[in-house]
Amino acid sequence: MSTREINIAPDITALSRMGADEVVRCAKESIAARGGFTIALSGGSTPQGAHALLAEYKDLPWNKVHIFFGDDRHVPPDDKDSNYRAARESLLSKINIPPENVHRIKTELDAQEAAQQYEQELNTFFQLPAGEWPRLDLIMLGMGPDGHTASLFPGTAALNENSRWVVANRVEKLKTWRITFTFPLINHATEILYLVNGDDKAQVLKDVLENPDKNLYPTQRVQPVNGKMLWVIEKGAARLLNDLK
Ligand code: 6PG
Repeated sequence: MSTREINIAPDITALSRMGADEVVRCAKESIAARGGFTIALSGGSTPQGAHALLAEYKDLPWNKVHIFFGDDRHVPPDDKDSNYRAARESLLSKINIPPENVHRIKTELDAQEAAQQYEQELNTFFQLPAGEWPRLDLIMLGMGPDGHTASLFPGTAALNENSRWVVANRVEKLKTWRITFTFPLINHATEILYLVNGDDKAQVLKDVLENPDKNLYPTQRVQPVNGKMLWVIEKGAARLLNDLK
């Protein structure tokens, strides 16, 4: 059984606090229940504030946390566009986490190789029987103004990938390759946390949340198989939403 909860934040600062607090709540719950916590960070600008606040939780047993990435750009890890670099600067460099607990997508490789290597890294970590999907405790996601999520952009091949966990995805409009989790991997998470900020996303977000059956945007295909979906939405991005109960 899956649940959906929507929380509106008055501004990006409050969104960041709400996002960080939810990650910590989920981490403590997972560590208490199973002795560890697996999280995939999302890219873009919105989560950076939450990452920075997470770095303040020094009492979190970071040695029991494993950090993955839901996607990354096909650029070197020290490139200004790298999601890994952004997370390293906002969070990873500030916490006492064993290096082997940070699972970076090796974007310096050929895009297809990077995707295959990451899929193998997930496989080695989760040690699952063939055919079983890894179930991350928490996957953080954002949504672009075109309704993309992770690196699952409208009109791209990865939207139709239903058997692989991670793929290289050509995003023609950006003239670039991305490496991304696929929908089934995302949808098997125990919890999906969306952080959405920005007036420019209001109409698409309204369609995503209020017209789910229309399947207009990639974000609408994020539907947990058996998990919780929590939306933390900044007021501007939420301005067109009906009074959601
Ligand atoms: C990326 C992200 C992407 C991001 C959205 C929203 O690599 O850019 O994975 O899906 O979450 O583009 O980005 P903003 O939060 O910066 O608007």
